Amino acid sequence: MSTPQLTRTTLRKTLSSLLHQPSTCTITRPLTTHARAPTTYTLNTGAQIPALGFGTFQDPNSQESTVSLALQRGMRLIDTARVYNVEKQVGQGIKKSGIPREDIFLGTKLWCNDYHPEDVERAVDDSLRDLDTPYVDLLLMHYPCTFKRGEERFPRDGQGRMIHGETTFVDTWRAMERVVKRTGKVRAIGVSNFSKAEVEMLIRESDTVPAVHQMEVHPYLQQKGFNEWLHGQGIHVVQFSPLGNMNDFYRQTGWSKEIAHMMRVIDQPVLKEIGEKYGKSPVQVALAWGINSGRSVIPKSVIDWQIEENLAADFELMPEDMARIATLDAKARFNDPSLDYEWRLYGDLEGIDGTVRGRTH
Ligand SMILES: NC(=O)c1ccc[n+]([C@@H]2O[C@H](COP(=O)([O-])OP(=O)(O)OC[C@H]3O[C@@H](n4cnc5c(N)ncnc54)[C@H](OP(=O)(O)O)[C@@H]3O)[C@@H](O)[C@H]2O)c1
Repeated sequence: MSTPQLTRTTLRKTLSSLLHQPSTCTITRPLTTHARAPTTYTLNTGAQIPALGFGTFQDPNSQESTVSLALQRGMRLIDTARVYNVEKQVGQGIKKSGIPREDIFLGTKLWCNDYHPEDVERAVDDSLRDLDTPYVDLLLMHYPCTFKRGEERFPRDGQGRMIHGETTFVDTWRAMERVVKRTGKVRAIGVSNFSKAEVEMLIRESDTVPAVHQMEVHPYLQQKGFNEWLHGQGIHVVQFSPLGNMNDFYRQTGWSKEIAHMMRVIDQPVLKEIGEKYGKSPVQVALAWGINSGRSVIPKSVIDWQIEENLAADFELMPEDMARIATLDAKARFNDPSLDYEWRLYGDLEGIDGTVRGRTH
């Protein structure tokens, strides 16, 4: 059965501890680079979420084998989404791995054309069918923008303009709450790509504080103030694109910004230098920075040795190295489809310069 999430009543009761404790998440972290116990966090539902996870955006033909491989090697958090068109492959990969379903934290995301409250439970059923599982551990609203309900994922008019939906993300959220409360299909709900004002609106207008905010965070976009605020609300952050501009997608998509061409994380000299101290790669240092900041990271890879390398990224960084990484915050947001979706995303957050005046390079 589902675990109840933090309601407004329980939130009020625990308000003082929320305000005075440094964290609402319990962190279990290995003390040295040699320790083996993987870091996990406790969500506001009481459920455990691993620090290290596996992203499944792109490469549908490889996902069955790489999800299976990642699980066999030790990953226990799998992130997918309806719009990635890989849920079937992810489900097959989980089966193929032989790892019991209950040992895996599996999350998927509702896409914007299924945000009408009457469509939400059916959309969850579609995902569960393809994932071949009776429940997901986490269901996220992929973006705050609602698109016209119907089959088309990106509904556009004759001029190519996006057609938005008639309901709001608050309506969708309330429907997601009902799925948690009335069915065993979803264990926790959260958001992705929300601004601070949008998260505040959800908290104000519903009974459920999101368990997770999945958002772009990496050494080039640290979102320090927003991360601290989310932490204070008891919302766990899962970093997507934890390797910044490593994914070629950000240089190739129609809405890419000039900044996506900045030095790739793997070539970053400060990360390289820090990595040498620990016998780790710059990629591992970038991931460890996220974990040492109390967040989960979900790097995507379809290459065996890279998956292995990413799995070995749960190690402790010294405070002086964390401080050096803090200097790399270029406020470079690579994922910003505001112009394409015709919705001002991340409006009160950092790194929207490339789209603020309606332009990309
Ligand atoms: N909520 C959202 O809106 C949203 C948006 C974006 C992403 N996501 C989620 O976050 C996941 C990760 O994000 P992402 O794919 O954008 O970026 P990423 O994980 O930061 O970077 C992926 C890129 O880095 C490469 N890579 C991975 N590990 C490496 C290593 N150890 N050494 C060298 N290169 C390495 C991958 O190569 P190969 O692929 O060639 O192995 C791929 O090109 C996605 O898969 C998805 O699940 C969510």
